[in-house]
Amino acid sequence: MKFFIDTADLDEIREAESWGILSGVTTNPSLYAKIGGKLADFEGHMAKICELVGPDVPVSAESTAETTEDMIAEGRRLAAIAPNIVVKLPICEESLPATHQLAQEGIRVNMTLIFSATQAMLAARAGARYVSPFVGRFDDLGDTGVEHLMEITTCIKNYDWGWWADEGGCEIISASIRGPQHVVQAGLMGADIVTVPFGALKKCVHHVMTDRGLELFAADWEKVKAGA
Ligand code: E4P
Repeated sequence: MKFFIDTADLDEIREAESWGILSGVTTNPSLYAKIGGKLADFEGHMAKICELVGPDVPVSAESTAETTEDMIAEGRRLAAIAPNIVVKLPICEESLPATHQLAQEGIRVNMTLIFSATQAMLAARAGARYVSPFVGRFDDLGDTGVEHLMEITTCIKNYDWGWWADEGGCEIISASIRGPQHVVQAGLMGADIVTVPFGALKKCVHHVMTDRGLELFAADWEKVKAGA
């Protein structure tokens, strides 16, 4: 399973990259607003992320256009920022034809705000390179996000969607991840990718027994040193 980081924060991306685990970056308008991003700096900031992670690491930049024509135009503009830009479009009637057109031009689309298997299959059929089912937002409603992820994963993996064959076809990015348990559940069902906020990614590194074990080793090593 590949790990993406779900953030627009350059320091967080830099640190996750230093761990040697980073295969991609996803951003969205809320994450850009969270770092105090300004409209005029948006494309420049996406360029900085692309440069930071290097040309082989996909970086999703989300379009906020509302019509098919505007999505195509914005998608082309975003894709021109760097070769690793993936245009993120929310699933809707307007974005399906935009995805189809961009895919024909060789521009990769990450179709986001996916909450059902039908949305995911339509996105894949239209030519999306990635589909992003949201897990945590189901849990926020008292529903069970991983059950929906399971349904979506099964439907996507049942077929060859006919696009992006040289890159392995349409991949599932498990999104809206709240913590390590979501990461494990995504792994158990064979999701291709998880995009994880930095805080949750850090939690994935730690375990209370590891911390306890480290303390014990350190204390015993002090004994060894004292006896030397
Ligand atoms: C997907 O790429 C989104 O950026 C993301 O995972 C949204 O999740 P949230 O529910 O934490 O906002």
